[in-house]
Amino acid sequence: MTLRTVLCDRLGIEYPIVQSGMGGVAGPELAAEVSKAGGLGILGGLLKTADQLRDEIRQVRALTARPFGVNLWLHQELRPPVPAHAIADATLAQAQGVLNAFRARLGLPPSTARPAPPPDLIAEAFQVILDERAPVWSTIFGPPDRAMIDECHRRGIAVIAMVATAEDARTIVALGCDAVVAQGSEAGGHRATFAKPVSPETGAIGSMALIPQIVDAVSVPVIAAGGIADGRGLVAALALGAAGILMGTRFVATRESTAAEAWKKSLLERDGDSTTVTDVFTGLWARALRNRFTEEYRASGAPALPTLWQAAVARDISAEAIRAGDPDYVPMWSGQGVGLLHSLPGAGDVVETVVREARAALDALASRVRR
Ligand SMILES: Cc1cc2nc3c(=O)[nH]c(=O)nc-3n(C[C@H](O)[C@H](O)[C@H](O)COP(=O)(O)O)c2cc1C
Repeated sequence: MTLRTVLCDRLGIEYPIVQSGMGGVAGPELAAEVSKAGGLGILGGLLKTADQLRDEIRQVRALTARPFGVNLWLHQELRPPVPAHAIADATLAQAQGVLNAFRARLGLPPSTARPAPPPDLIAEAFQVILDERAPVWSTIFGPPDRAMIDECHRRGIAVIAMVATAEDARTIVALGCDAVVAQGSEAGGHRATFAKPVSPETGAIGSMALIPQIVDAVSVPVIAAGGIADGRGLVAALALGAAGILMGTRFVATRESTAAEAWKKSLLERDGDSTTVTDVFTGLWARALRNRFTEEYRASGAPALPTLWQAAVARDISAEAIRAGDPDYVPMWSGQGVGLLHSLPGAGDVVETVVREARAALDALASRVRR
C-alpha cells in the first residue's frame, strides 16, 4: 500500500505527511529529516532576517535534494507591526505588574520598560523565498496577497495556507492557493484565523467536524491538522476526505526540534487534558501546556499586548525559564494530541512510524468492519 495521494503528486513527496513550519522549533535539521524520510519538512520563518532565512534554506538544500517548505506568519498586526504608541501606558503597566511577580521568582530584576516592537521582516523574508525558489511557501494568518501567490507560481513555488474555518478556506483558494491546511481546534500553537477573534471560542472547530466541511468547500487538496500524532490519525484524516496530514506537536517532541528540553520533557509527561488556549504568551490565541504563567497571568485579569508585543515584553522571563529548565514559565505550545506522545524519536522515524501505523490501521479497518 503506497499511501500516495493527490497531495504527494502536487508537492512531489512520497507520503502525505507534512511537518509544521514551527517558529523557533523547526530549523534546517528538522525540516531536512522529514523531507529525507519522504514527507514535507517546513522551515519556520518567523522573525528570521533575510540573511538567516537564506542561510537556513541553503542548509536544508545541503542536507536533502527533496522538496521542502518555508513558513511565514502574515498577520495583519505584523504588516507592519503595531506601533509602540498604540499601546496605552496603563496597559503596559498592568502587564509588567504581573510579569514582575514572575521575574521576582526567577531572580530577574523588575521592569517597567516598553519593549522594542516586533521587527518588520515579512517582505524581505518573502523575497528570499522567491529568490531561493523554495519548493513550497506555507502561510498562517493573512490571507496572502494574490500578487504574492502569483509571484510564487511564476517560479514554480506551491503555496499552502492554513485556515480554521470553511469560509477562510474558500477565500484562500479563490486567491490561488494550491492546498489548504484545515486546522482543527485541538491544534498546538496559534489558532489560524486571519485576525484575532475576541474570544478563543471563535474559530474553534474540532478537526472531526472541520475537515469534511473544508473538503466540501474547496476543490484543492486539504491537509488535516490538529490533534494528529500517529498513523490512526492519518487514516482518519483520509477517511474524512483530506489528502494528507500536517503535524506540529508530534514533531516538537523529536531529537531534531529546537524546543527547550523542559518543554520536550513536559510533552512526554503530560496528558491530553493538559492544554489551554491562551493569549498570554504572544497576544494571539494559541494552545499551550497549562503552567503557572498561563494560569496566574489569566487569573490576574491583566490584558495581553498586541501580536508579538506580548512575547517581547516577557522575553527575559521565557529566556531565563528556558535557561533554568523551569517549565512553569516557558511557553510550551502543544496540541491535545500530547497524550499520544511517549518517546523522543528522530523526525524521520516519526514519518516512517506514522506510515507503518497507517498501513496497519487500514488493514485492521478492513477486518473489523463486516461487509
Ligand atoms: C510549537 C508549535 C509552533 C507552531 N508554530 C507555527 C508557525 O510558526 N507557523 C504556522 O503556520 N503554524 C505553527 N504552528 C501550528 C501548526 O502549523 C499546526 O496547526 C498544529 O501544530 C497542528 O496541530 P498539532 O500540534 O496537534 O499537530 C505551530 C504549532 C506548534 C505546536
